[in-house]
Amino acid sequence: MCGIIGYIGNNAVEDILLSGLKSLEYRGYDSAGIALNDNQGIDVFRAKGKLVNLKNVLNTQNLKNKHFSQGIGHIRWATHGEATIENAHPHTSNDGNLVLVHNGIIENYQSLREELTQQGFHFFSQTDTEAVVHLIDREYKKTLSLESAVINAIALLKGAFALCIMHHNEPDKIIAVRKNAPLILGLGCNENFIASDIPALIGKTQNIIYLDDNELAIVEKDAVVIKDFKGNILHKNIEKINLAQDDISKQGYKHFMLKEIHEQPRIIRSMITANMSTPFEPIHFNGINVEDLVQNVDKIEIIACGTSLHAAMIAKNIFEELCKIPVIIDAASEYIYKSHLTDAKTLSIGISQSGETADTITALKQARTHQAKILAITNRIDSTIVRCADFVFPLNAGIEVSVAATKSYSAQLAALYLLALAVAERQKCADIIKLTKIKQELFSIPNKMEEIFYSCNHIKQCAQKYSKYHSFIYIARGINSASAFEGALKLKEISYINANAYLAGELKHGPIALLDSQLPVFAILSPDGKIYDKIISNCEEVKARCAPLIALTTSDSFYKKDLFDDVLTIPSVSELLSPLLFTLPLQLFAYYFADCLNMEIDQPRNLAKSVTVE
Ligand code: AGP
Repeated sequence: MCGIIGYIGNNAVEDILLSGLKSLEYRGYDSAGIALNDNQGIDVFRAKGKLVNLKNVLNTQNLKNKHFSQGIGHIRWATHGEATIENAHPHTSNDGNLVLVHNGIIENYQSLREELTQQGFHFFSQTDTEAVVHLIDREYKKTLSLESAVINAIALLKGAFALCIMHHNEPDKIIAVRKNAPLILGLGCNENFIASDIPALIGKTQNIIYLDDNELAIVEKDAVVIKDFKGNILHKNIEKINLAQDDISKQGYKHFMLKEIHEQPRIIRSMITANMSTPFEPIHFNGINVEDLVQNVDKIEIIACGTSLHAAMIAKNIFEELCKIPVIIDAASEYIYKSHLTDAKTLSIGISQSGETADTITALKQARTHQAKILAITNRIDSTIVRCADFVFPLNAGIEVSVAATKSYSAQLAALYLLALAVAERQKCADIIKLTKIKQELFSIPNKMEEIFYSCNHIKQCAQKYSKYHSFIYIARGINSASAFEGALKLKEISYINANAYLAGELKHGPIALLDSQLPVFAILSPDGKIYDKIISNCEEVKARCAPLIALTTSDSFYKKDLFDDVLTIPSVSELLSPLLFTLPLQLFAYYFADCLNMEIDQPRNLAKSVTVE
């Protein structure tokens, strides 16, 4: 949530900030702003809405004759205060000399605001952030040193904050601070960068320092000094990133979401082949010793949010079926505030595409205090979740730009299948012939995913036909209940359609009251015989209420065709592995539905890719 960027050096500050913010726009787009420092003073430009509005503001300014030596920028995902210009960052001290940008939440901002107001500071926004700028300003007036002022001020802050701060009187430095919100430094030649995330630095530098919590950096043009919050110097490693501009381009697709949907077969194929050469040999992970992972473990808990939580729901079915280990799943936001059974015999698995989701990280830190072993499954090996974990399963799905998660979801599923199979193999808790058959089938999944793309047009036509409806219901049973939740989430987040998912057997206990000819029902028909018949009965109940009915099913298991208004199919697959295939048509249906409505598919309103606030 919120993206921040800072630059100090001889190149065009304004352009560097804007291109950095463009790459961070997935973190929020409620407002944008930059502050530029030259010898005359600090200029601040802010605009409501997307970055393009800020660019329009800048186009009206005559900045050509100015020579800026440093600058900071921000894109906002609003927490405190609406998306207005007044609430946009950077925020400025009353004398205009000090500016800062912030990502996170200052929990004690209300009391600070009251205290600072009494001391004569004037507030112009409803943000929590403005309290920080006045607080540092107050300390600066006492110490006349930006570094000392920052150290004094942050000792008084409660909450999460990544900050970039500059003062007109100290144009040789930007101070960057990290506590519970991500921040990295990019090292260049006679120039240095600060950013919330790596995409902002692609094409600018490959040399990165990851700040850890409770660290600050004094960033100058040709030097970077990192200290703890007491002012002690720390020595940090410089790491190399290996990303090109291509990794964050649409490569000819209309939207990132469509491109990322199409990347799935390749990603799943390379994950499978990286961890097992043939279905007849045991699975081996680079960096995870399965014996260590499950030694003395009598239960697994899986903690995640949103789409990653849906992957967790599917994992519960897989692990219980193959490994006979009880699995508890929890939304991270719930786990944090309830009593749980986590202990030294628990394997706590955190699933997070971004690795920065605040709820998931807080929950895992809590699990650790109960002596649980921690496994992180993430697409970002440079993220905070990795530093909370004993074991890490990297998804290697490449940067996911679209706010709606697609390729990371199927990569999470593939990782969870592989893990469960590996545990089952080592613990000998399932018949080896059965496990080999599942592994053989897993190898066939990427090709079957590719086959689904042949029917893109059919899915598109179906989505277009239904795009006139304002509400949707998804139903499924068994392992694919989570597929229904994920399908509904995809549709609602990019179309703003009210889409709800129900266990098909639960329809008759209440939701059936909603049904009429204006509420289409999307039924995911599991391939397995027993469940298939049951869900067909549920569909009969739906049809009897005149609701339009779509079936998503395997090509070989379909009968009762007349019951349905439309039928979408996937290649033949077992019940256990079917979520890997069902997810593609569900994603494509949501995508084409939203595209037909001309929605902002990659950046839906009110959302951000990386939810770094609790
Ligand atoms: C998915 O489409 C969403 N944008 C969202 O639910 C996301 O999955 C959730 O915020 C969790 O993110 P994470 O996987 O990065 O932790």
